[in-house]
Amino acid sequence: MAALDRNTLVAVIGAGAMGAGIAQVAAQAGHPVRLYDNRPGAAAQAVEGIDRQLGRLVEKGKLPAAERAAISARLQPVETLDALAPAHLVIEAIVESLSIKQGLLHQLEAVCGEDCILASNTSSLSITSLAAGLKRPQQVIGMHFFNPAPLMALVEIVSGLASDPAVAATLYETAKAWGKEPVHAQSTPGFIVNRVARPFYAESLRLLQEGAADCATLDALLREAGGFRMGAFELTDLIGHDVNYAVTCSVFEAFYGDLRFQPSLVQKALVDAGRLGRKSGQGFYSYAEGAQRPQPLTLASQANVDCCVAEGDLGVLRPLVERLRGAGISVTERAGAGLLRVGDATLALSDGRLASQRAREDGLSNLVLLDLAQDYASATRLAISHAGNCTAEARDQAIALLRSAGLEVSAVADLPGLVVLRTVAMLANEAAEAVLQGVGTPQDIDLAMRAGVNYPRGPLAWADSLGVGYTLRVLDNLQRSYGEERYRPSLLLRRTHAEGGRLHA
Ligand code: NAI
Repeated sequence: MAALDRNTLVAVIGAGAMGAGIAQVAAQAGHPVRLYDNRPGAAAQAVEGIDRQLGRLVEKGKLPAAERAAISARLQPVETLDALAPAHLVIEAIVESLSIKQGLLHQLEAVCGEDCILASNTSSLSITSLAAGLKRPQQVIGMHFFNPAPLMALVEIVSGLASDPAVAATLYETAKAWGKEPVHAQSTPGFIVNRVARPFYAESLRLLQEGAADCATLDALLREAGGFRMGAFELTDLIGHDVNYAVTCSVFEAFYGDLRFQPSLVQKALVDAGRLGRKSGQGFYSYAEGAQRPQPLTLASQANVDCCVAEGDLGVLRPLVERLRGAGISVTERAGAGLLRVGDATLALSDGRLASQRAREDGLSNLVLLDLAQDYASATRLAISHAGNCTAEARDQAIALLRSAGLEVSAVADLPGLVVLRTVAMLANEAAEAVLQGVGTPQDIDLAMRAGVNYPRGPLAWADSLGVGYTLRVLDNLQRSYGEERYRPSLLLRRTHAEGGRLHA
């Protein structure tokens, strides 16, 4: 299937943040574009705004001046819906209301030609519902851009029950031709990104609620150990808690109250208080003038260590051993159960059990659990937790060992799966569930999470690299620890593990 020809007219409806961005993308790709908004003058204003944006790119030397003029000339504000009649593709980015969008689509069917594609930029409404009752529901499809549209690469091409696969294929190729990274998704709540990303916020909110650590420490761990661009608290402060909470609530309700998506009372309290994040001056952090961002809690150590023992197969912790060696620590290797020993302390990568529980069950004394790092060779911070009977001296030795490798160490309370590990395991679980339910292919789901929300790795490929069996064990242990449905592992993880296969392929 070919992309739409560059000479075909594209219409964009709604000249707000998203509509203006989408119009710019289409015009930059070479299409003549007509922009319509039902607020008189709004479309013309938006076109002026786009021209100013392009002007900034020219000033920075990123766009030739002639190109700016050509793009702006392709953008035409119009004041009536009828002016969109010759368009081959209409993308609506109006207010997020099912009835208003349905009304608009009905009008468009009357105005536009029979083969015109009617695309919606909705981020939460069902494409199936939007198309229901139309004469040509097969022409209706989701084209979900991310904000800001000119900069964000991902576009979810969302098919409803009636959408014609040929229409989906045309839009996929068209998005590619526009320089985007499209993925196919079936119209299910949250599509791919807004569904699979829920645990990223939910696990941090839960950890905060259960007293794991403070916001700044949890955020720093997701950044510095997890490799995420931002932690969940700084990110939700940026998104706006009203918006982020509303998305969680809508996904939760749409899945009939599945506890995997249960909204957080901690976030609700912020919304109730009007602490919406950056835009209101206060969220988890203060954005008042002169406000200082709290620093993550970092542990010091009195101990001096120059050697440790690595027992057995350390799995994903292996690069940490090399890092210790590189820092001048003498590491003796011997058979064992995948543990590090330093002084009186036993260090192990978390498997989703509480430290105290694992210490008792496995007969390990002075157990200090390590969190997951996206890359132990380059991480700058790592979380630890310790069993209730671990001595202060042993814990100090464990901290000294990690610090000798150049890692900042942050303590979290003894909660299952620490911070990065449980976040990644839950992201992979949700991604697996989406694959199982046919929402998207593993490749598209991983790509969506990298291109749409800048995750350092796709959750499925990440689980593959950790080992599907290990990821499953972490989730099983989380579920046992909490006794909650929320942590139930996806059948796809269990099946893939039983088959000895991979999730991402
Ligand atoms: P916005 O409020 O900035 O802009 C909406 C525009 O649509 C306004 O200019 C309004 O005058 C116009 N409008 C409203 N009803 C109309 C109608 N019946 N006919 C013509 N124009 C109408 O909203 P925003 O943020 O640009 O969102 C638009 C759509 O994009 C929504 O469906 C939203 O869910 C979706 N979306 C928003 C994202 C975001 O981060 N803001 C990201 C991805 C999707």
